Amino acid sequence: MRVLITGGAGFIGSHLAEELLKKGYEVAVLDDLSTGSEANLQSLRGNPGFSFTRGSVLEEGVLSPLVRECDVVFHLAARVGVESIIRHPLGGLEVNIHGTEMVLRLAHKSGSKPVIFTSSSDVYGKNSEVPLKEGDCIKLETVYSNRWSYSCSKAAGEFLAMAYWKEKGLPVLILRLFNTVGPRQTGRYGMVIPRFITQALSGEAITVFGTGTQRRCFASVKDVVGAMVRLLETLVGSGPATFGHVFNLGSDEELSINELAEKVKVITHSASPIRHVSYEEAYGEDFEDIQRKVPNLERLRQFISYNPKYDIDTILKETAEYHRRNPSSLPKSGSGEPLLHASRAGRR
Ligand SMILES: NC(=O)c1ccc[n+]([C@@H]2O[C@H](COP(=O)([O-])OP(=O)(O)OC[C@H]3O[C@@H](n4cnc5c(N)ncnc54)[C@H](O)[C@@H]3O)[C@@H](O)[C@H]2O)c1
Repeated sequence: MRVLITGGAGFIGSHLAEELLKKGYEVAVLDDLSTGSEANLQSLRGNPGFSFTRGSVLEEGVLSPLVRECDVVFHLAARVGVESIIRHPLGGLEVNIHGTEMVLRLAHKSGSKPVIFTSSSDVYGKNSEVPLKEGDCIKLETVYSNRWSYSCSKAAGEFLAMAYWKEKGLPVLILRLFNTVGPRQTGRYGMVIPRFITQALSGEAITVFGTGTQRRCFASVKDVVGAMVRLLETLVGSGPATFGHVFNLGSDEELSINELAEKVKVITHSASPIRHVSYEEAYGEDFEDIQRKVPNLERLRQFISYNPKYDIDTILKETAEYHRRNPSSLPKSGSGEPLLHASRAGRR
């Protein structure tokens, strides 16, 4: 079976490609390398079951033959990261909505190829239910704050996928990923764990945005990718059909961002101070954060066995080790400051 992974040179996509190849699938990756990197795929070079195409999901001429030649599509390509979306909302909306529509349309046209779409827990918006169930309301902000454009773009992708399923019978499966972390995730676009670790390793202040009392759950990319492959197997095996379903996927072990910063300091043996930075200073606009985000994983567990193996300490140790071995991921002196400083200065 041949699997196309859009966004496969990214953090999650590259781990998924490795796992699928290990299981005997053929893997084709399409990635424009906007946030991903060929270095993430280094270990796969030379594997006869693997191929890489540099290009965008927005380019029909590039995407079309890849969809035609595969049996199933994992659609991961997206503009990610709150900071990059706040800076470039248009690019995010275009890739996340138009790119997703392109993947779905071509999958339908090429004989109804199944599509597994990675959505995000961000679609729950300001819904503060704990834990969040798939059927819970999507509460998005109506005020035009760029902060919510990623959530809206992922929600639009979900609506598109469900419309293709309901109206055209295209087999789709939607995964709402909660914070997924581990080696190869970059801190350049505002992801908290790689940012804290690289700051700690380079002796810069660990910058906690807001009060740090906001609570999150972090899942290892290995646990997440394992579940993604098991869900793919439900599509090709004889288990209960998962098409047309939305699944939360992540960890439900919570900790506060202050606790996370302390853990990073201890695990990296860092002398870095922990500095609190207001959202205004960090993001340069009226930024609303969500106090708690915990997934309800019951639905996922009705379909596959899912018992995350990696706790937060193990994840942090592994990720710190990765950044130690890849010093190019560490910020140059001074760049550990909130990433939007430059654009804010530009606006003044
Ligand atoms: N990591 C998380 O915690 C998390 C949480 C929720 C959802 N997700 C979703 O999971 C998916 C993978 O995210 P990730 O964390 O690996 O981020 P990532 O940035 O490492 O991966 C996204 C990949 O998509 C590629 N890409 C972007 N625009 C493209 C385009 N037009 N054409 C082709 N490729 C393009 C990037 O180069 C990158 O390799 C995304 O859809 C993201 O929204 C991730």
